[in-house]
Amino acid sequence: MADHDDLFAATMAAAGFAPPELPAGEPKPEALEMVDRTSRYWTSPHVGELRVGSPAHQHELCRMFRETFNPYRPAVVAWPKLTPDMLQRVTSLPIWDIAVHTEGRARLRFASYAATVQAPEVRDAVMLNAWEEHRHKEVLGNMVKAYGIALGSEPAYRVPRDPEWMYLVTGYCECIDSFFAFGLFELARRSGFFPIELVKTFEPVMQEECRHILLFANLVASQRASLSWWRRIVFELRIAAAWFYIGWERLVLARSMKSNGMGTGQDSNFTMTSAQAVTPVEIGFRDLMTLCLQENDRRFAGYDARFARPTTVPALARIALFLTRPWAKRSVGKTSNEHSPADG
Ligand SMILES: [Fe+2]
Ligand SMILES: [Fe+2]
Repeated sequence: MADHDDLFAATMAAAGFAPPELPAGEPKPEALEMVDRTSRYWTSPHVGELRVGSPAHQHELCRMFRETFNPYRPAVVAWPKLTPDMLQRVTSLPIWDIAVHTEGRARLRFASYAATVQAPEVRDAVMLNAWEEHRHKEVLGNMVKAYGIALGSEPAYRVPRDPEWMYLVTGYCECIDSFFAFGLFELARRSGFFPIELVKTFEPVMQEECRHILLFANLVASQRASLSWWRRIVFELRIAAAWFYIGWERLVLARSMKSNGMGTGQDSNFTMTSAQAVTPVEIGFRDLMTLCLQENDRRFAGYDARFARPTTVPALARIALFLTRPWAKRSVGKTSNEHSPADG
């Protein structure tokens, strides 16, 4: 086991985490379908309002997170055989290193934050979130091995000195990344540029990210609601600082990608470059934003409407669409109903 795995395991153990029990053996298709449904639809039996920040809201939120858990085992994920063309497309995507590092960092940051949380239910939910990031990393690691993708060495992951700050940074990063990933993933599915089996294999990971940012948005909203006015100001300043930090970090990342010959050096263009890498058809910025918004709405639609949703990134996308109206040429609007959740 590598050092970074040891560090993560030690952090989880210190926070008192017991890994969930996963069913043994290869799951039957019906069982997969059932857990897929369970993971994307959930409504609380609680009658009446679920006021954000109330004990009932917190309890039902944690319950949602527990009950929508998808118990797949990374080791039994079947990696479809790819044609040489497909294999080339998958291995040449410039995202695998960043994806593995992102999961590696996220799992440790969530685990570190969980250890500081007082409410046992919330702590368990954040720890499960951390464990799911660890599982994403395992899935990616297995895929990389199966397809012979060459990865660089992993950076040293550090336990954050200020876990709440890193939780905010990581949570908002997930809100940004997931929003664009939802659209890009659907684009890849529709284009047939990758085999549908491979797209389906990653579907639980995508939906899990949706659950993660749902949990995050509600925990942040809860904290906001429970603070006194002056603590609230401090918290809002931290949130604003987290957004600035993310913006700065991404600017640096985009520049380093440019100097390494990846992407175009601009973050928005990195998303566009990724879009061109997952579809043979050219897609414009507006169409991609529209698709991201549709997918965002679709993925959240199955969860109790009384929970808060992440709103900042969708709002920014809507503003971008509004401002670029003069450049509107075509729309992907009518395609929103083509996808049924059951088909992955
Ligand atoms: Fe993840
Ligand atoms: Fe996540």
